[in-house]
Amino acid sequence: METVPGDPIAKLIANGIGPVDDDGLGPTGRPLPHLKLPEPPPQPTKGIVIAMCNQKGGVGKTTTTINLGAALTELGRKVLLVDFDPQGSLSVGLGINPHTLGESIYNLLLDDETELSEVLTQTPVANMDLLPSNIDLSAAEIQLVSEVAREYTLSRVLEPLRHDYDVILVDCAPSLGLLTVNALTAADYVVMPLECEYFALRGIAMLTDTIRKVQKRLNPDLKILGVLGTMFDARTLHSREVLERVVQAFGEQVFHTVIRRTVKFPETTVAGEPITTYASSSAGASSYRTLALEVLQRCKAN
Ligand SMILES: Nc1ncnc2c1ncn2[C@@H]1O[C@H](COP(=O)(O)OP(=O)(O)OP(=O)(O)O)[C@@H](O)[C@H]1O
Ligand SMILES: [Mg+2]
Repeated sequence: METVPGDPIAKLIANGIGPVDDDGLGPTGRPLPHLKLPEPPPQPTKGIVIAMCNQKGGVGKTTTTINLGAALTELGRKVLLVDFDPQGSLSVGLGINPHTLGESIYNLLLDDETELSEVLTQTPVANMDLLPSNIDLSAAEIQLVSEVAREYTLSRVLEPLRHDYDVILVDCAPSLGLLTVNALTAADYVVMPLECEYFALRGIAMLTDTIRKVQKRLNPDLKILGVLGTMFDARTLHSREVLERVVQAFGEQVFHTVIRRTVKFPETTVAGEPITTYASSSAGASSYRTLALEVLQRCKAN
């Protein structure tokens, strides 16, 4: 990556980010730690798999997958995004038309003849590739039921790719069905985005219960990497109260980084690119860069 003196990304890489608010407290009401970029992983790498998961719709799973992925590439990591939602929003958000897709993640799951290279797609972001999906994937939910070791299907597809990428982000559908169980079985970590709205915590018990079952029966190595507050509006008492309740419920699992509500995010979907390139110096881009640092630091600590 080319850097120029005074480049904010170069500064972030060199110095990390420290307490910034006057009182040293972040939006979650806790003192902000100093976030510093860990050393690059030794080569050849064994990439980590992170599932973005919440069965509630519209909480920012896809937005977080695209923008966290792009921010991680700015920090020098090679990233693979996996669209694991038949809605194909992740693919659309990266400028891909799901209707014109030939092969997709669906074929990799269910057709042994399909090669990874037929499905792997470059994105507008350097060092970030995609396994796209479309409505075909909705059939997989049913077809997988009769497969041998059906919960391990995605894990098998991703295993060889771990050597080519530092981080693999899986964007789950808003459901706790077999596809999401596959994502949790393939993952080392799960990130739970929660919208800072009244019903944010509803259904979360069901999600944590599913995670516990997967840990017990399928993937004992799965860990919760963090809970991410999204669509936060600092001007409303309501948003602040919800975040407070989320911190009461999840404590240190809540990321210090909180993603604010801004119309820039829907705009980026239309533009088909992440906020880090669409509005590089915006607060939204900066939040996802901070989240990227926090994610790498937490993965290293685990
Ligand atoms: N921080 C934000 N501020 C404002 N709008 C946002 C923010 N994050 C996401 N959005 C918008 O909210 C909508 C839902 O976001 P997104 O698609 O990321 O959620 P999702 O959890 O992936 O949804 P689904 O469950 O349907 O897959 C999108 O239109 C997106 O552009
Ligand atoms: Mg989505």
